[in-house]
Amino acid sequence: MNRKIKSIVKKITRNKFRRKFDYYLNKRDFIKNDAHLNLMILRYLIHQLDKTVKYALNKKNIRGEDKYKKANRLKKILEERNQICRAELRWCNEVIKKYDIWKETDMVIVHVGNKSSNVKDLVSVIKNRRSIRFWEETKISEQEIYKLLEPAIYAPSSCNRQPWQFNIVENNKTDVTLKFTSNYNMLSIAPYVIYLSIDRRFHPEKFAPAIDAGIVAQNLLLSLEYYGYSACPVYQCEVINQKKIKKRLGLEKHQDIYLAIPFGIGKETVKLPARTPIENIVKII
Ligand SMILES: Cc1cc2nc3c(=O)[nH]c(=O)nc-3n(C[C@H](O)[C@H](O)[C@H](O)COP(=O)(O)O)c2cc1C
Repeated sequence: MNRKIKSIVKKITRNKFRRKFDYYLNKRDFIKNDAHLNLMILRYLIHQLDKTVKYALNKKNIRGEDKYKKANRLKKILEERNQICRAELRWCNEVIKKYDIWKETDMVIVHVGNKSSNVKDLVSVIKNRRSIRFWEETKISEQEIYKLLEPAIYAPSSCNRQPWQFNIVENNKTDVTLKFTSNYNMLSIAPYVIYLSIDRRFHPEKFAPAIDAGIVAQNLLLSLEYYGYSACPVYQCEVINQKKIKKRLGLEKHQDIYLAIPFGIGKETVKLPARTPIENIVKII
């Protein structure tokens, strides 16, 4: 396929995903949706409101308010249909309340505190990990960074290709890499950012590169949690300028950036964004 056709195909597919997303969010009446779809939309909206307040974004922008209205309407539908569990409802209400306070008073609510933990058994590490978006400015030695990342490479990968590379940038607000990334507000305040790249040259399977990226990233997040550091996975892929960021990081063109993982010593305590109870998401056939 020549370059021009490739880029048209890319554009159409990207638009297709975007169009579907916009349709469910803005056009289709929530009343017509099943519970799973509505819950996913609600979680997305509440997550956005939570971040809007933390970073004091979009105050004058109608989009923040629009999300607020949509979230309230959706919550009401789910409540009326008895389709939302108590923990999720509590989480939604807490975030909405924070948003209300911020709108009225300009008070940004970030729960300052040290997220580091001493939990050492696997299940506790898994359950204790949270996406943290504020950090101390502590420097981390190279030796320590190797220690933190090493457990990640024990991740499974399709045909054991191990296609990953961790590209680490010690951050500061002037780092030009940031200009090409998404979530600038968050990445610019992180002491370190890992750009996770995957070599896509030798994957006959369409989705294996993304799955490999996801699995190794989770290993990495758990290792950071275990050693008392905090991070947040941040989607990159097609929403960033891959070409420019690869050039900046000295990567080959076949090394695609999937995630940015800002990390450091956490300076925020967050509550668990509620999880759907296990009975609701398991189907034993
Ligand atoms: C593939 C992926 C992409 C993500 N992208 C972003 C992002 O762009 N910005 C962000 O703030 N959080 C991002 N996150 C973090 C999620 O918002 C977070 O995992 C979710 O809200 C649940 O919170 P928890 O990680 O504390 O359990 C991403 C997570 C994943 C797995």
